[in-house]
Amino acid sequence: MMVMQTKNVRRRRAALAAALPGCQPAGRVELQPSVAALTGKGASRLSHTGNDAQTITTQLLTGPAIAASLDGIASLRLAIFREYPYLYAGRREDELGYLRIYAEARGAFVMTVTDSGTLAGAATGIPLCHEDRQLLAAFAGASHAVDEIFYLGELLFSPAYRNHGLGLRLLAEVEEHVRSLGSYRYLTCATVVRPASHPLRPPAYLPIDRFLARTGFAALAGVTTSFTWLEIDGVKRDHPMQFWLKALR
Ligand SMILES: CC(C)(COP(=O)(O)OP(=O)(O)OC[C@H]1O[C@@H](n2cnc3c(N)ncnc32)[C@H](O)[C@@H]1OP(=O)(O)O)[C@@H](O)C(=O)NCCC(=O)NCCS
Repeated sequence: MMVMQTKNVRRRRAALAAALPGCQPAGRVELQPSVAALTGKGASRLSHTGNDAQTITTQLLTGPAIAASLDGIASLRLAIFREYPYLYAGRREDELGYLRIYAEARGAFVMTVTDSGTLAGAATGIPLCHEDRQLLAAFAGASHAVDEIFYLGELLFSPAYRNHGLGLRLLAEVEEHVRSLGSYRYLTCATVVRPASHPLRPPAYLPIDRFLARTGFAALAGVTTSFTWLEIDGVKRDHPMQFWLKALR
């Protein structure tokens, strides 16, 4: 569930989106506003069993309201994606360039999870049709219509907030939001494929496949791509990526 893209991504995404029927060009912003509470009654509260004194709040952002959240999400990505299996040595300016699409593409969203005002986690999503040409090409052989698929860009929590059920809860809120948009039947995401023998794999590492299988995603046979990024050892490598799909009910 991650994408590292640097060059001309916005231009390619916009051109492609403009060419696809049923898909608005990226760059057109939401006419509707922007900061909506997930429950409609104020920001929703996810339970966090680690410390009862903490107040965990989720917020759904759409359109231009997303822009103010992007620096914080870039910080989360830069820290979390240094971990195995990503090992990503990102640069803030590239992150901000990549993330800007969420503030610009129609239908995109960001969900932030804060703990007493501090960003603890986030999810991002965008209609698949606004994604970059390379990513879309992976779906050429898939039997699902691209304009019915919503792409989960990332779902991530700082280490202290993991394994308390927050991931499950946030994903459920993502699904509820995507269903409410009315025209998407599937959620997709991509994971990096690493050999089990990778030297930097921590002994207690839990493959993300477990979380995805637990939440109803299935790996899409033959729907793969590769992304290139600079790793923390200073070497730029190609990384095979596997797409997953979940039907929204
Ligand atoms: C993956 C992630 C979002 C899950 O959120 P979480 O709040 O820790 O997960 P939950 O507590 O809701 O756990 C739900 C289930 O997933 C499992 N799980 C938790 N973390 C997992 C991980 N890193 N990999 C695989 N499975 C995981 C849990 O064991 C639990 O399953 P179980 O009940 O069968 O034991 C979170 O661990 C995370 O941010 N990881 C780092 C970033 C990342 O890799 N994100 C995904 C790609 S963008």
